[in-house]
Amino acid sequence: MKNIRNFCIIAHIDHGKSTLADRLLSFTGAVTQREEQAQLLDNMDLERERGITIKSHAIQMNYTHEGEDYILNLIDTPGHVDFSYEVSRSIAACEGALLIVDAAQSIQAQTISNLYLALENDLEIIPILNKVDLPSANPEEVTDDIVDLLGCDFEDVIHASGKTGFGVDNILKAIIDKVPAPIGNPEAPLKALIFDSVYNSYRGVETYFRIIDGSIKKGQKIKFMATGKDYFADEVGTLNLKQTPKQEIKTGDVGYLITGIKTASEVKVGDTITSLINPTESKIEGFENVKPMVYAGIYPVDTEDYEELRASMEKLQLNDASLVFAPESSAALGFGFRCGFLGMLHMEIIQERLEREFDMTVITTVPNVSYFAYTKKNPDVQILVNNPTDLPDPSSMDRVEEPYIKASIITKSDFVGQVMGLCIEKRGEIVNQTYLTPQRVELIFDMPLAEIVFDFYDRLKTVSKGYASFDYYPIGMRTSKLVKVDILLNGDSVDALSALLHADNAYHIGKKMCEKLKELIPRQQFDIPIQAAIGAKIISRETTKALRKDVTAKCYGGDISRKRKLLEKQKKGKKRMRQVGNVEIPQEAFMAVLKLN
Ligand code: GTP
Repeated sequence: MKNIRNFCIIAHIDHGKSTLADRLLSFTGAVTQREEQAQLLDNMDLERERGITIKSHAIQMNYTHEGEDYILNLIDTPGHVDFSYEVSRSIAACEGALLIVDAAQSIQAQTISNLYLALENDLEIIPILNKVDLPSANPEEVTDDIVDLLGCDFEDVIHASGKTGFGVDNILKAIIDKVPAPIGNPEAPLKALIFDSVYNSYRGVETYFRIIDGSIKKGQKIKFMATGKDYFADEVGTLNLKQTPKQEIKTGDVGYLITGIKTASEVKVGDTITSLINPTESKIEGFENVKPMVYAGIYPVDTEDYEELRASMEKLQLNDASLVFAPESSAALGFGFRCGFLGMLHMEIIQERLEREFDMTVITTVPNVSYFAYTKKNPDVQILVNNPTDLPDPSSMDRVEEPYIKASIITKSDFVGQVMGLCIEKRGEIVNQTYLTPQRVELIFDMPLAEIVFDFYDRLKTVSKGYASFDYYPIGMRTSKLVKVDILLNGDSVDALSALLHADNAYHIGKKMCEKLKELIPRQQFDIPIQAAIGAKIISRETTKALRKDVTAKCYGGDISRKRKLLEKQKKGKKRMRQVGNVEIPQEAFMAVLKLN
C-alpha cells in the first residue's frame, strides 16, 4: 500500500490534460510505441473527433524510483461542465491532483472550480505550468498567478510541456514524493468507491472502483449499497492499457469489476461496493443521483420508426446512465420521448450517437430546463414541468419557479463591461466582482439556468473575444414571471415549438422567432402564416410566401431517370424535416429560439 499513488489531473478545458496523460503513460512504459496514438485515453470515436474527454477513465502505470517499485493510478477526468459530477467522484478516489495551467491562458474558471473540488477532498495539489514550449507562453506571470491562487512557493510549480515531454520526469517524482500513499484498513470489511463505469456490449457493464478498506476477490459475493443489489464478482483486475485480470485487488488500489450487469443504470457512480456476507457499516459519503439539467423531445423523422427509436434509446441508456427518457406525445410530432440531459453538449452527443450508432434520423425539439408550477387551487402542491406544454393554464396558475445558478466568469478587465452587459441581458444579478490580478477579473452572477444552458457560452466567447471562462453550479429554484409563447403555423399551434419565456422578453423574442422561422421554413405551394401567441393573443406574424415552380417542371417530361434523381435528391434534403399538418418543419426551426442573435 505504501507504494501506491492515486492521482487525477484537473485543468480547465484544453489546457492539455489528455496530452500530458499520454506523456506520462509513454514515459513509464505503460504504452509501447506501437500502441501509442494521440490522445490515447479518449477512446470513443466521438471523443477523438471533438477532442474532448467525455467519460473519465483510469489507467495504471508502474514506475521505479530510487530502487523502489511504485504503482501509479491515473484517473482521467472530463473537462466539460456538463460532466462535473463525474469529476467530483474521480477526485474522491484520489489522494493527489496535478493541477494543470496553460502557460499562455493562465487560470480559468474551471481551474478554480476543479481546484476547489480537489481541496474539499483534501487532495495534495501539484501545480504544473503546462505548454511552456508555446511562443505565447508567459511563464513568470502565470507562475505568479498560480502561487497567488495556491499560496505555494514559486519553486513548487513544475514547468512542463505535454507536447515535447519536458518536465515529465519531475512530475513523476513529485507524484511519488508529494502525493500521500493511500490509508485504509486491509482487515476491515470491503468498502470501495465506484468512480466510473463503462458499457461493453460483450462483457456487460465494467465498473471502475477504488478500494478504501478491505479487498475484493474474484468470485466473491458483493453488494452495491445505494441500489441494494448483489452480484458475483465474475472478474476483477487492474486497469493497464488492457485490463489485467487478478485474483484479488487490495486496499488503496484501483481496479475494474465485471459482474454481468447489462444495464448501466444499475451501476451508479459514487455508490459503495461492499461484501454481501460481511458488509461495511457506513457507505462512502457524497453519493448523488445525477439530475438532468436540460430537457428536450426526441422524435423520429418518420413516425413509423417510433419503436425502433425506443429500442435505440434503451440501448443507449444501457451505456449512458445519465440519459433519462420517458414517452411523450406531441399533437404536432406524434409519438416520441422527452429526454433529460446533463447539458447541451450531452444533448448533442446523444443526438449524434443515435444517428451514428443506431442509424436513426431524429428531430430534437426546443430544449428547456425543468420548472415548478403551483396552481391557485393548491398553492402548496409542486407540479414538475419538464415540457412547456405541461404548464397549467395561466388563469389557474399561482406562480412558476425556475432553476437558478451561481455563475463564475473570469475575464480580462477590458471586457468587464461587455460581459456584464451580456449577463444582465440574460437576467443575471451581479453578486461579486474580484480583481484576481490587475488584468483579470472574476465576476459572480446569480442567473436563471435557462438563460445560460443555451447560447450563453457562444455569446460570452464573442463579447470577450475568447478571453472569458465560465463555470456554474445550481443554487435552487426562484419564482419568475414566465409565460408560454406558442407558435402557430398555417393557423395550427405547433406544441413542439412552444417555449417558456420571461414576460418582459416574450414579445420581443416571439417576434424574432417568427422572423427566424420565416427564414427557415421552406416555401411551399401555398402561403404559410407564422404567428406567435401568448394564450389567445397573437403577438407577432410573418408569412412564408408560396413557391410557384415545381422542381421537376424543368425536366420537361423526357428523361425519367433524371427526374427520379432529382426527386431523390429532394427526398434526401428532406431527411431532417417533419411534416406537421401540411407544413414541413426542418430541424433547425426547433432550435430557432436558441439562435435569435
Ligand atoms: P479536454 O479533455 O477537452 O479537457 O482537453 P485537455 O485539457 O485534455 O487538452 P488536450 O490534451 O486535448 O490539449 C488541448 C490542445 O492543446 C491540443 O490541441 C494539444 O495539441 C495542445 N497541447 C497540449 N499540450 C501542449 C503543450 O505542452 N504544448 C503545446 N504547444 N500544445 C499543447
